[in-house]
Amino acid sequence: MKFHIHTYGCQMNVRDSEAVEAMLISAGHKKALGEADADLVIVNSCTVRQKAENKAIGKTGYLCSTGKKVGLIGCVVSRLGEDEVKRLLPKLDFCVRPGHLKEIPYVSPDADPLSSHFHEFLPIRRFENYSSFVTVMTGCDNCCSYCIVPKTRGHEYSRPMEDIVTEVQCLAFCGIKEVTLLGQSVLRYKDFPGLLRKINAIDGIERIRFTSAHPKGCTDELLAAYRDCKKVCRHLHLPVQSGSDRILKEMGRRYTREEYLAAVRKLREFDPEFSITTDVIVGYPGETEEDFELTRSLMNEAGFDNAFVFKYSPRPGTRSAALPDDVTTEEKERRDQVLLADQEERGLKRNLALVGTIREVLVEGPSKRNPAGFSGRDSGNRIVVWDVNKEQGAGSGEEGVRSKEQVGSMVQVKILEAHPQILIGEII
Ligand code: SAH
Ligand code: SF4
Ligand code: F3S
Repeated sequence: MKFHIHTYGCQMNVRDSEAVEAMLISAGHKKALGEADADLVIVNSCTVRQKAENKAIGKTGYLCSTGKKVGLIGCVVSRLGEDEVKRLLPKLDFCVRPGHLKEIPYVSPDADPLSSHFHEFLPIRRFENYSSFVTVMTGCDNCCSYCIVPKTRGHEYSRPMEDIVTEVQCLAFCGIKEVTLLGQSVLRYKDFPGLLRKINAIDGIERIRFTSAHPKGCTDELLAAYRDCKKVCRHLHLPVQSGSDRILKEMGRRYTREEYLAAVRKLREFDPEFSITTDVIVGYPGETEEDFELTRSLMNEAGFDNAFVFKYSPRPGTRSAALPDDVTTEEKERRDQVLLADQEERGLKRNLALVGTIREVLVEGPSKRNPAGFSGRDSGNRIVVWDVNKEQGAGSGEEGVRSKEQVGSMVQVKILEAHPQILIGEII
């Protein structure tokens, strides 16, 4: 069969989709050019907010009406259960929970039946040929009041360190330059700084990223690993969720505003250019104007380089779903807009300070925003764009934008212009 996979949600889902692709290919199926061309379409779903779930179900329902074989995998299946999914989508061919991907019909049955974490050992076949996700931990044992993930992904499990190191060695051998270590709370991994040191020593790997982090994990040992390991990128995604101690406590986040800000200060003292990004929820049950203003002032104090703002969405079965969802939709929208406007201004200010500096950039390909541009990222995960028309021997033609710099190579870019979310420069 020719198959196509639609992936919603987080990096864990992207990694799972890669594994499913690898399993289908090893069973003799072929990747379709796109959805229209496919005999089998698989939707890998997310349910972190109700909107995400509706999107996945809507898409799957539509696909079921096209006469193709359709499968639903991912977090929606664990939240609703197989019976409810089949009731909602009677024409569905199959549904499978995350962590059970080998149960997908049509996959290769010899995909290591002995291990429940089978897909970690699959042949090295990745979506990109310069950058890869590597699973370090699956599941989550935290119980943040609002979050469905522990229910959809199950208990926390840490892979043995030797397995992770072996996988990264194989990736390096295949030409991968950048790895992103994945876990819902990756700093809970036993001796995470030790893992960073081992991966830093692997020849061929040039950059190490990891996500997501918790302020409790920002220990002196982690800072020492940053200092000693040049390949570990100077960027941390450190979701804060709220700036109000009262709300943080209700959420069960296990840190205070001051503890969070202390972690930020520590990273910026180590390197003032250190890039810190975050996730924030607005409109949590009982969030007052005062709580919201505390989130706003925390974001200013932390000086985030980028922020993702989410409107609270009650998830059935979580602790906070029992509380009245009492902030109106309009008020959530207003708070969202206020934080986004603040972030635009703050992001621009942070980026303006980088004009004139030289960034080391891993080349990714044609820019999505600038038709004449090629883009990549610096160590801080900032998007850096350069105009190929200014490069000798490159330019844009019928086949699209071409840079003389190869995708996956490292280049030096001098920054000439700053925007809230991108830096523009020239190759030197
Ligand atoms: N494990 C990560 C977060 C994974 S979920 C961590 O703890 O850092 C990604 C983001 O979705 C969260 O950081 C949170 O901001 C948001 N989120 C999770 N549940 C939500 C809900 N019920 N409503 C709105 N946003 C939510
Ligand atoms: Fe959800 Fe909290 Fe686990 Fe993150 S740490 S996945 S927010 S329960
Ligand atoms: Fe990820 Fe969404 Fe599941 S954020 S873990 S795909 S609910």
